Amino acid sequence: MIEELKKIVTEKLKGHPKRLKHVLGVYETAISLAHVYNLDEEKVGIAALFHDYAKYDSLDKQIEDLDLEIIKRFVDTPVIYHAFAAARTLELYFGMTDEDVLNAIRYHVWGRIGMSDIEKVILISDSCEPNRKFDDAQYIYELALHDLDRACEYVMKASIDYLETKKLVPALEQLNAYTYYMEVNRGKIE
Ligand SMILES: [Fe+2]
Repeated sequence: MIEELKKIVTEKLKGHPKRLKHVLGVYETAISLAHVYNLDEEKVGIAALFHDYAKYDSLDKQIEDLDLEIIKRFVDTPVIYHAFAAARTLELYFGMTDEDVLNAIRYHVWGRIGMSDIEKVILISDSCEPNRKFDDAQYIYELALHDLDRACEYVMKASIDYLETKKLVPALEQLNAYTYYMEVNRGKIE
């Protein structure tokens, strides 16, 4: 399935070479973290390759197959629709039923409370794959080699800080996920 998906994603993103390079970078990084944490490489690989599949679809197209409940839930943060749209496409048209894979794609933008390791690896890899130009990409990767939860907290904080520099308000779900991982890392939550 991985080779087939690489072809499908390459075709879909052929007009966006930088994005394709990013997706392939996320794939490489996610697979290397999957080795470290003994995760199912097929699942991690599928989620990595597909996470930005719907990124350049129109908003109308992105919400076309989404449940009304999801559309309403994220009406103030339409940036998240591309993630849910990609998961829905994988579910509807490629027969994917694995909730870890689907959630890793749905929540790759800002994470969620109680992520599985596969979800964490995709969230982290999206921020620190080698084509990312952030100064701290290498730091995030090294943190992830030691502790996925701490890397998640770091990535979440960086994303919230970035929004604040743009004078944008983070979504409540994003803030709640960040607070949750802060508490996990301070030993308050198992
Ligand atoms: Fe991405």
